[in-house]
Amino acid sequence: MTLLLHAICKRFNGPSGAIPVLDQITLELQAGSIHAIRGASGSGKTTLLLIAGGLLRPDQGTVRMGDDDLYAQRPARRAALRAAGIGFVFQQFHLLPYLNVRDNILVPGLTMDAAALRPRALALAERFGLSHRLDHRPAALSTGERQRVALARALLRQPRVLLADEPTGNLDQENAAVVMTHLTEFAQAGGAVLLATHDPRAATHATRRWRLERGILHCDDAPVTSAKESS
Ligand SMILES: Nc1ncnc2c1ncn2[C@@H]1O[C@H](COP(=O)(O)OP(=O)(O)O)[C@@H](O)[C@H]1O
Ligand SMILES: [Mg+2]
Repeated sequence: MTLLLHAICKRFNGPSGAIPVLDQITLELQAGSIHAIRGASGSGKTTLLLIAGGLLRPDQGTVRMGDDDLYAQRPARRAALRAAGIGFVFQQFHLLPYLNVRDNILVPGLTMDAAALRPRALALAERFGLSHRLDHRPAALSTGERQRVALARALLRQPRVLLADEPTGNLDQENAAVVMTHLTEFAQAGGAVLLATHDPRAATHATRRWRLERGILHCDDAPVTSAKESS
């Protein structure tokens, strides 16, 4: 099971005409891999993640998840594929301020039988060191805790793909390392991670490294990385 982006092009309309952001991007996220994408602010990392996650239609190209071409599906089917297969983590956490930790983790289960997902939500909270915080709202949490809630939420429905947009961008070194450890565990358990990051330390956890520049993905791996990938 992989997520396959093929020949993705995307441009946005700016004040003086169309601005090309992604130019023929092809990328395969295999199970067990962490692909890190670095690039200057505005280089298109978020745009690429949104397209990969079925949230933004590319101008050209395809995104395949297993046998499904995401953008060839009707919106409802695309949303269902996304909900079942893809988790998102963002720099800004996107927690719902009026819900406590338990309910924030359970948000992706709102359309399902939430009772069935409660044990998993509690297990994730335990794993991410949040058990003592279940009844707190995000405002009462540290930034590291908020990001761990966001991660737990992303993992609630056991996605095969995790899209992480600068997930360590607001964290100190220690909390950033915790998040990266969890992403690594997810990949080692057979998940695939697409990580947009400024953070050179975060990129060291990746199995594949890329740089997005002027719409093109450049491989940043040294020629001999395969020995490290199995570690
Ligand atoms: N909805 C939009 N409409 C117009 N321009 C956009 C839109 N979204 C992003 N852009 C532009 O596309 C470029 C890439 O943005 P983004 O993907 O957010 O980059 P990054 O995440 O690498 O900082 C930027 O120039 C940004 O201004
Ligand atoms: Mg961005």
